[in-house]
Amino acid sequence: MTANELRQKYLDFFKSKGHSIIPSGSLIPENDPTVLFTTAGMHPLVPYLMGENHPGGARVANAQKCIRTGDIDDVGDNRHLTFFEMLGNWSFGDYFKKEAIEWSWEFLTDKKWLGIDPKRLYVTVFKGNDDSPIDQFSIDTWQEQFAKAGIKAEVCPYNNPVNGNADFRIFSLPAKDNWWGPAGETGPCGPCSEMFLDVEPSKGPMRKTFDEEVDGFRIMEIWNDVFMEFNKTKEGKFEKLEQKNVDTGMGLERTIAVLSGKRDAFDSDVFYNIFNKIEQLSGKKYNDAEDTAKAMRIIADHIKAATFIMGDDKGITPSNTDQGYVVRRLIRRAIRYGKQIGIKDELWTKEIAKVVSHDFSEHYPELRKNIDFIINNLKDEENKFSKTLERGLKEFEKVLSVDGITGVEAFNLYQTYGFPIEMTKELAAEQRVKVDEKGFENELKKHQDLSRSASAGKFKGGLADASEETKRLHTAAHLLLASLRKVLGNHVFQKGSNITAERLRFDFSHPEKMTDEQKQEVERLVNEVIGKNLPVIQEEMSLDEAKKRNAMGVFESKYGERVKVYTVGEGDNVFSMEICGGPHVEKTGELGKFKIKKEESSSAGVRRIKAVWE
Ligand code: ALA
Repeated sequence: MTANELRQKYLDFFKSKGHSIIPSGSLIPENDPTVLFTTAGMHPLVPYLMGENHPGGARVANAQKCIRTGDIDDVGDNRHLTFFEMLGNWSFGDYFKKEAIEWSWEFLTDKKWLGIDPKRLYVTVFKGNDDSPIDQFSIDTWQEQFAKAGIKAEVCPYNNPVNGNADFRIFSLPAKDNWWGPAGETGPCGPCSEMFLDVEPSKGPMRKTFDEEVDGFRIMEIWNDVFMEFNKTKEGKFEKLEQKNVDTGMGLERTIAVLSGKRDAFDSDVFYNIFNKIEQLSGKKYNDAEDTAKAMRIIADHIKAATFIMGDDKGITPSNTDQGYVVRRLIRRAIRYGKQIGIKDELWTKEIAKVVSHDFSEHYPELRKNIDFIINNLKDEENKFSKTLERGLKEFEKVLSVDGITGVEAFNLYQTYGFPIEMTKELAAEQRVKVDEKGFENELKKHQDLSRSASAGKFKGGLADASEETKRLHTAAHLLLASLRKVLGNHVFQKGSNITAERLRFDFSHPEKMTDEQKQEVERLVNEVIGKNLPVIQEEMSLDEAKKRNAMGVFESKYGERVKVYTVGEGDNVFSMEICGGPHVEKTGELGKFKIKKEESSSAGVRRIKAVWE
């Protein structure tokens, strides 16, 4: 089976169970300051898990683009990926454990779908703690499924070896294994149940403990059903959500490999065309040597991830901050490994991007749409870095000593030769020496007051809480966009936004600096609408209808046919109309006094406003 086939089968299956199929959300989270990228399928859907109505209804399924940056430097082995696709089916207060488990079983084992031999399946459930009891319902439901295949599924006592007992099919595990979320400090979460596939059934029944069998890659996780019925609060309490949700996740790359009996996430058609291109460029073969294979995996993963990030309609380009810094790191690390395996071509990374766009545009059409943007940025970045890489490597050799690399040296490699600190660390680790990172950070601070979020722990992943404060600023963002268009003109479109409880950051298209008068006028308009206490009305309609009514929408591609539209004001007094997922306040009078703190350039043709409540 190919990855395209698996993705399609999954979506077809859930369509047959009444789910609407929605496009992937963006890789760049909207209104979530605590995280740079979408790290799981649930990420863009948090508002609906918290109770907002989804225009696609209470049952949806999709393939979500995800980026996990936590282990970029581990990419190179055969398991870690920066970019991956997560297949998921969702219930927003609709079905719960029974249907979720029954459908998981049916999709995995039915001949019409994946047709996996049930004897190869093992599952885990939550074992219970002070916050929530053992998930007996899931145990019972799994036993009913296994019984259909004549398997008497028993629960293996925690941490006991399986000892060849083929009836031990269910493993109850603590929260560290079987409680999913929240992705950040707060938000939706709950017990989960994971499905594992035996990749070596010919070895007979398992003998070791569950953990040991997983660590030894005898069984591999393929799917996670999360039963999200809790919200973790700031105080660390678990409150019952008003609705019970299901969030599931099946990693596409891994599952497709595991289904064909492979342990290697790179060993599937997801990567074959990309590897062919790298072989062509380098004149080496993937199987020549482990070092060569490692370099090719790094190049394949990194350029694919960079292509998806830049192809995401948000105009992310390589830079020294936030998402742009990740793109830069990925491209530069790939270039270094390209050099290592002897790629001589100038500007070769774009050749990989073309393969990625070709292979994945059918499901992610934005890759085709934005291919010129991707290619141009890859060319620019490669031009910048190729020139300095060689000299930088010489400089590295020169400063290398048994005492390691000092902060000043690392900073010089960064500033003069464009070596991301992570690259210097990797080079140093290869020589078994350390880099003085603290010293590097100090140098960096001395030279620029911009805080580079890459070092500020933003990569951990997380979700902003859907607090009242962020909701109010979210509504303010709509008022701000409408006001900017009134004051500056209709060329103004939203390019991005990022909201914390304290402030709103808003990017929009505009070619030049705003004057003080313009800023004051925008503030005045926003505050005027707040003063009028206008209603904020939510409606659902087709995308066509929304367009016909001239609703603004940066998120058009995020939803299927039906969209939610928020209108501020009524009748002749409509001030703003936007396609948006919400949530919003009900009346503008709930907002405070709006103040623009800063207006600055964000990137070419894009300005950025930081605003707060006065
Ligand atoms: N949110 C769950 C996961 O990422 C499905 O595993």
